[in-house]
Amino acid sequence: MNYDHYLSERARRVRGSLGKQTSVPIAGLINLGSGTPDFLPPTHVMEAMQNAITSGRAQYTAWRGIPELRSAIAEKLALENNVLYDPDTELIVTAGAQEALMVALMTLCDPGDNALIPSPHYDEYTRDANILGSTLIPVATTAETGFQIDVSDLEAAITPQTKAFIIVTPNNPTGTLIPEQKLREIARLAQERDLLVISDEIYEYYVFDGMKHVSMASLPGMRERTVTINSFSKSFGMTGLRLGYLAAPAEIIDAMLPFHHAMMVCAPVVSQYGGVAALCQPRDWFQPILAEYDWRRHVWMQALDEIGLPYARPTGAYYIFIDIRPTGLTSGEFVNRARDEARLIFQPGTIGGGAGEGFIRGALTKASPEFEEGLERFKTFVRGLL
Ligand SMILES: Cc1ncc(COP(=O)(O)O)c(C=O)c1O
Repeated sequence: MNYDHYLSERARRVRGSLGKQTSVPIAGLINLGSGTPDFLPPTHVMEAMQNAITSGRAQYTAWRGIPELRSAIAEKLALENNVLYDPDTELIVTAGAQEALMVALMTLCDPGDNALIPSPHYDEYTRDANILGSTLIPVATTAETGFQIDVSDLEAAITPQTKAFIIVTPNNPTGTLIPEQKLREIARLAQERDLLVISDEIYEYYVFDGMKHVSMASLPGMRERTVTINSFSKSFGMTGLRLGYLAAPAEIIDAMLPFHHAMMVCAPVVSQYGGVAALCQPRDWFQPILAEYDWRRHVWMQALDEIGLPYARPTGAYYIFIDIRPTGLTSGEFVNRARDEARLIFQPGTIGGGAGEGFIRGALTKASPEFEEGLERFKTFVRGLL
């Protein structure tokens, strides 16, 4: 049976865009490009979730999330991100940042509208805009500038249909952290052109080289025009627990609520109790993890220097964006051949838009000894191509 004429136009637009997922790990393959952190949530988070289960927390919660969690998030945003939100009216707890970003685009973009994003970028934004019949306009950045957005390029890309900038800092897949000065320039442009900013900060704790993560909403005049997206996935090793949040002015949050309700009703209740524990305990458990990721970053850079492949020095998130142009292969060819010939998995740079052609995404998420084994295979494979 051919189902084509049953499928909605939007389903046909995004059909096939996810590629194939292998659900069973294949023996011998090493994933050196994975976006999943390799540590467990801290014990206090696990215990809180166990308690939630044993005390029978199995029902819907408030649509916006349990009050304890919203208070904890508001406190965290005030203390760490320097921005005040009312936990009752200005927050929604979501099923991860993934839900949050779809809700944000559903709320802000009509068919025909567009949002601008520095590219290479997280690919989900493209798919979501496409589902909605809106357009994501990628604004290219280059390796030469460490994939920092040139604000005049952002300005030049604005059209009468532009509703928002999407700023992801630190960024997936480039590992670029936007410094405060540049964020201020973006903020000024958003104010001058009366645009909103969707600020995806899910990698906020992965910051290297003494850099500092700054939240867009904390900048002067930006609280009222920023939708902040954050998540517990990367910050607490909770990717499968699906917990994130949206913070925005009350009127926008009210407008978002029907979309959140339509898709989720509420975020998973057990995860929400885990989230309270996550935010109410000190974060010192993360120090050794960050140190380990930083060590892997240095080992990666050393390996690339050794074989002579350029890269943009990552200052945030846990990715390393590798320039494979010296091999003469396209991103897609490199990734396929690395899989077939070296049994290594990478993401092609093109997954984050055309500006990523000639690059692959490596990651800091693989532990020893597979990490070293993978890098040895990588070096041998690349040397064979040069
Ligand atoms: C930039 C960015 N935003 C959002 C997400 C989705 O994260 P979550 O697991 O919180 O849904 C990811 C996941 O990799 C990401 O890289």
